[in-house]
Amino acid sequence: MAILNIAITGASSGLGAALAGAYAAPGTQLYLAGRDAARLAAVASAARGKGAVVVESCLDVTDAAAMASWVAGAGALDVVIANAGVSGGPGRGNVEAADQIRRIFATNIEGMLNTVLPALAARVPRVVVVGSIAGMIALPSSPAYSASKAAVNAWVMASAPGAKREGVTLTLVRPGFIRTPMTAANPYVMPGLMDAQAAAARIVAGVAAGRGVITFPWWLAVGAFLADLLPKAVFGKVPGKG
Ligand SMILES: NC(=O)c1ccc[n+]([C@@H]2O[C@H](COP(=O)([O-])OP(=O)(O)OC[C@H]3O[C@@H](n4cnc5c(N)ncnc54)[C@H](OP(=O)(O)O)[C@@H]3O)[C@@H](O)[C@H]2O)c1
Repeated sequence: MAILNIAITGASSGLGAALAGAYAAPGTQLYLAGRDAARLAAVASAARGKGAVVVESCLDVTDAAAMASWVAGAGALDVVIANAGVSGGPGRGNVEAADQIRRIFATNIEGMLNTVLPALAARVPRVVVVGSIAGMIALPSSPAYSASKAAVNAWVMASAPGAKREGVTLTLVRPGFIRTPMTAANPYVMPGLMDAQAAAARIVAGVAAGRGVITFPWWLAVGAFLADLLPKAVFGKVPGKG
């Protein structure tokens, strides 16, 4: 039986936990990373229950040295999924707090690079990065988040051809709204909101098909692209998360 070695960041919650559950099977070895030890242990236990061998690690993706050791220490990985991310909005103020902006950029951009660059250096054949449809539109409800995901989306797409020449398929995932702790407190309507399990199934199928970009739902991506052409003033005072 072929062993599939898969490393997933942000596996302690939401989409990462659903991906761990989707990949968990006899013959699969999962390297799961997150910060919350109790939630990570619960995800690992559920994956073991499905027959996977699981190695869990409490890691902060902003720690470049720790992330490089984690990827190198996992051995011959088949797939790395850079999924960890944080969101936020202006809250009750008009402008996001400076520390929140820096935390979102550090986690979503540098944390992603801290995961992906060691995987590229190790020539892991499949490297999957979770961007977002939110990166296709400058969102007044979450400025730093949409900006961070715009950087992720663009960097992954622009780097994919070069990575391919090095033998690495670099895949960008751009989901719409997923029902996870990240979106639980959103005070606005979320068109096309889907379960984490359904989103994970879309990603697993796209990765298995060798796709370079996995975007869902497609109509939300078209809507985001068109809405981004409008002046931001038409959004008015958008209620944002704290
Ligand atoms: N939910 C959506 O609608 C949606 C849509 C598009 C894209 N996405 C993206 O999908 C990914 C997963 O989000 P989610 O919705 O599943 O959110 P979530 O339930 O809040 O999970 C976020 C995960 O990221 C981990 N994480 C956050 N900061 C970290 C850090 N500094 N170091 C290590 N791990 C860290 C968290 O770990 P701990 O909990 O252990 O701290 C958690 O496992 C994110 O990249 C997000 O931007 C989400």
